[in-house]
Amino acid sequence: MEHLYAFQDYAVYKDEDHGTWKELNSRQSGMRGASISDEYLKGFEQLALSDHRIVNIAELSERMAAISGWTLVPVHGLIPTRDFFYMLINKRYPVTVSIRKPWEIDFAEQPDIFHDVYGHLPLLTNEKFYRFLTAYSIIALKYVNNERAVEFLGRLYWYTYEMGVIRENGKLKPYGGAIITSREEMDNLANPAIPKHEFDVEKIFETPYNPFKLQNEYFIINSFDDLFNSLEDLETKLIAHLLLPEHDQALHNYSLNPRLSKGYNNVIGFLNDTQFRFPDAISFVAGQPDEQFFEIQDHLDKFDLYVDYLCAKQGTTDRKKVINKIGQYNKTKGIANEIIAEQLRKDENIHLTADNLLVTVGAQEAFAVIVSTICDRGKDVILVEDPSYIGLSNFCKIFDYDLEGVPVDEEGIGLAALKKKIMEVNSSGKRVKLLYVIPDYQNPTGACMPIGSRLKLLELANKYNFLIIEDSVYNSFTYLQKKHPTLKSLDRYQRVIYVGSYAKSLFPGLRIGLIGADQKIENEAGNIVPLIDEMVKVKAQITNNTPTINQAILAGVLLDLDCSLHEWNRKKFESYKYKRDVLLYALDRHIAAYRHEWSGQITWNSPDGGFFMKITLPFDVGDEDVVSCAENFGVMFSPMRYFYLKSGGLNEIRITFSNLSPQEIETGIERLARYFRTRIGQLNAEEKKTALQYH
Ligand SMILES: Cc1ncc(COP(=O)(O)O)c(C=O)c1O
Ligand SMILES: [Fe+2]
Repeated sequence: MEHLYAFQDYAVYKDEDHGTWKELNSRQSGMRGASISDEYLKGFEQLALSDHRIVNIAELSERMAAISGWTLVPVHGLIPTRDFFYMLINKRYPVTVSIRKPWEIDFAEQPDIFHDVYGHLPLLTNEKFYRFLTAYSIIALKYVNNERAVEFLGRLYWYTYEMGVIRENGKLKPYGGAIITSREEMDNLANPAIPKHEFDVEKIFETPYNPFKLQNEYFIINSFDDLFNSLEDLETKLIAHLLLPEHDQALHNYSLNPRLSKGYNNVIGFLNDTQFRFPDAISFVAGQPDEQFFEIQDHLDKFDLYVDYLCAKQGTTDRKKVINKIGQYNKTKGIANEIIAEQLRKDENIHLTADNLLVTVGAQEAFAVIVSTICDRGKDVILVEDPSYIGLSNFCKIFDYDLEGVPVDEEGIGLAALKKKIMEVNSSGKRVKLLYVIPDYQNPTGACMPIGSRLKLLELANKYNFLIIEDSVYNSFTYLQKKHPTLKSLDRYQRVIYVGSYAKSLFPGLRIGLIGADQKIENEAGNIVPLIDEMVKVKAQITNNTPTINQAILAGVLLDLDCSLHEWNRKKFESYKYKRDVLLYALDRHIAAYRHEWSGQITWNSPDGGFFMKITLPFDVGDEDVVSCAENFGVMFSPMRYFYLKSGGLNEIRITFSNLSPQEIETGIERLARYFRTRIGQLNAEEKKTALQYH
């Protein structure tokens, strides 16, 4: 520790330095007449400082030793926290040997001999105060390796020894050295607008300070006993504070994946916030299944059925053992694959083996697994319908995979545009590896691909050597007599990777989806390997395996229904169809009926399945319109532009009807019509104005 010590070479001070001391001293004595703590002044008198010469530290140290047992240590400036506390414990106080320069008279950033002596030494003659100080240091020393603790304890030092205020005879007077040695801080303290709190250690811990600015607040003690008494539970309070989460302590200079703030589409966040602000607005926003139909309690009970099934299969009656095996780390591919394969065969006419399936955490994880297994960043391109569901494209954006959009019309992806895009990409040095399509009742447009297009699409995939991700989540939700065949069921070239989800057919909280892939691929080493097994490697690194309890519940439900959800879900399909009809009827009465008045340019599609409808408007809509419509008309919609890769659909909106009651749909459309009518009225007024200008 010796290296910390300085030597006060008294001969080094120039006349100019003694002049600075004298000037500071005379300013100080002017202030002393004002209100400074009596306790401080008492100590100050005892120090008997010279008013025109810089104090000799060794001499002063001897005087102090005689008064209160403290000695002084000459130092060059701020010393390490740990050494500082050590000194205080030993009743030694560091005093800076240098003095500020003449131009720093009003404000010196670093402590100097004047600050240390005038600011801090008088109170070291006060036993109550210095007992507080040494006891504080003993505690503080235990926490020097903990930055937050040092920060909190530093605040206590700051709001007492530097910025402390004491109530004496009903008057507030400073005893803190940094107030007493600063004219401006004295004035600041006298300002009634600056808050002064009663001394409270916890509040002090929570109050940061800026040493280079005037204080925003002060803390008052009634006597130095307050300080000493606060030591009793100081450590308990400190620990409690250290255990609190570091709220409002933001990380700076700590960058995140820049793609999260660049083109990332946070519409879900925005729409949720808006819904939260206007809870009474009827929302055509969320693409949720109707929760009236959830039968969760019943499904949970089906867990046992799956256990029965396994017991029978394994020829055991030891249920506990079988259940524990379910709860153990398990196969990445999944444990319900055989049963799921059977359901796909019965409901979807898809013939995949259990081995061709990978059970995922929703369709969302399937997208992540497929893209990361197949695509080489920077070289491979993923094509998506534009607009499309953002689950896959947002994943690609965050993880920096190349995306390109292909326009969608009423009949799904435009095949001519697709072909053009493939040529364009493949001749650019990159390569189309994947195409993501939602052939049935697409989210967000409700578009549905006719069978002819499906067959043609498969041919294109074969011809241009890419694979298709078929997102089939709405395939069963048809309002026609018969479902469309999935791409996978038509896939003679093994070009389709099937993605399914039980989020809509059972309930989203189950978080079970699946990948069905029967392709074999020649890998880098020249070996022919099943594609699905390569995906298993990736999935293992993301989630290890899909929660087995959920898989067991799903398996139990499927077993109970003889591996077919179709009939069982019929009442849901019928209910969604009824809602779709209510929606169309409401649109007819509230909008189409006024074709000749104001609604002539508003059009919509009539989806034969799924949850979504597209409405085209004669005006553009964006974020502000969502908010103002929710606020003034009590109804919410999603602007279609949110679902475009870059831009598009400025004058289109998406309407979701799945989780609203027929009454809400009726009222919601009535409100929406009023909003449209108002907007069109304003448009017409604008048109008239422009017309007038030109005549
Ligand atoms: C087209 C489409 N695919 C996938 C999903 C999400 O499926 P999961 O909940 O299984 O991740 C949705 C949800 O809205 C969707 O609309
Ligand atoms: Fe200080």
